[in-house]
Amino acid sequence: MYLTKDEESSLEGDHGEALQVAMSLLVDVGDFYKADKLISVDSAHISGVSYLTGGDGLIDLLDFFVTKNAKVGVFSTLNPSGMDRINWKSHFIDLEFATKQYHILRNFEAMGVSTTCSCTPYDFGHILYKGQHIAWAESSAITFANSFFGARTNKEDSLSVLSAAIAGKTPNYGFHLTENRIPNVKVSVEVPLTSYSDFSVLGEVVGKKFNHIPFPFGAIPVFDGISHARPHQLKGLGAALASFGTQLYHVKGITPENEIYDKVTRFDDECTITEDDLNEVYEELRPPSDPDIVVIGCPNANLEEIMELEELSRNLKVRDGKEFWLFTNRAQKGLAEGLGLVKSLEERGIKILVDTCPEVTPYDKNRFKTILTNSIKAQHYITAPSLNGIPTYILPVKACVDAICEVNT
Ligand code: F3S
Repeated sequence: MYLTKDEESSLEGDHGEALQVAMSLLVDVGDFYKADKLISVDSAHISGVSYLTGGDGLIDLLDFFVTKNAKVGVFSTLNPSGMDRINWKSHFIDLEFATKQYHILRNFEAMGVSTTCSCTPYDFGHILYKGQHIAWAESSAITFANSFFGARTNKEDSLSVLSAAIAGKTPNYGFHLTENRIPNVKVSVEVPLTSYSDFSVLGEVVGKKFNHIPFPFGAIPVFDGISHARPHQLKGLGAALASFGTQLYHVKGITPENEIYDKVTRFDDECTITEDDLNEVYEELRPPSDPDIVVIGCPNANLEEIMELEELSRNLKVRDGKEFWLFTNRAQKGLAEGLGLVKSLEERGIKILVDTCPEVTPYDKNRFKTILTNSIKAQHYITAPSLNGIPTYILPVKACVDAICEVNT
């Protein structure tokens, strides 16, 4: 891979050990993927933040970079941590976990990273545009950035994204190149999609159908037949697809890269989605018993979703012994607070958690045996034995509210 003189000198360690380590990792990645050069990125979004997923190894890695005085070279944000940084006791986090999580966040802060932890960094701080090169981790965020905004990022892992954040560069390969953004599968949608969970379940059906398309780029679907979608619904579609490895999708007439997808007439595979396909998933993932908790906000909820929940839960309250957690980010919570929505929701027993997410926060398994959500991605990951391993089911948000709330007399 071609390196400029300045990049060569960073690789030799002339600008400090932290940048040298970062450059050496980027060069390894670039050589592996046969990138021609490094390109500058406008921003980085860093994953690997929760102590639940990173453990002591993450602390050691960050301690190393901080000791070497590492600083990020571009605007960088963080994925969810394992807890609400202020109200961590409200969701039953113990002191040892909180202490370790604070250590991780302090290290990121020392490197100059914005520690507003969320997987929807496009809802605050970042302003993305078509063709912009960025280096992001977090599968749902990169899928939304690539697809909805037409920005360009590969799916970075926690090490490559930290290196890109420090160097302000990434190897020029994969989704940074137009030829790799061409759709390879076509999806004709013949069912009206009305809720966030409909889009999420569509992502599950399509993700399963095209699981055989090989990596590194996997399935790049183009959807035909979706006439209208709110941004948060496409965010849900992307998050579900991302859990099968998709990093870019197009929706005819809605997503911005029409000059790429309009030209394609031959596909590796095609399918048609009907109401029966969605119903099959809803049926399979219907809660078999009374859920102990509802979790909404995977990916983290935006203001529109908070407003919807506030409307759906009017005159209701969470039943005794049950929990209802809404995950969002500090920016959206601030907006909701200004509109009085946080107060209303809290009066009904709905807890609003920030800095974290339904997947990377630890649950008390004695207290929570059945979880209900409106997001396929949350369903996949909360159920995963390597994370919380708690049976999790899916319904549209209105049905989630009805399942856990009662009339407030
Ligand atoms: Fe975001 Fe966590 Fe879901 S990172 S996409 S809320 S699993």
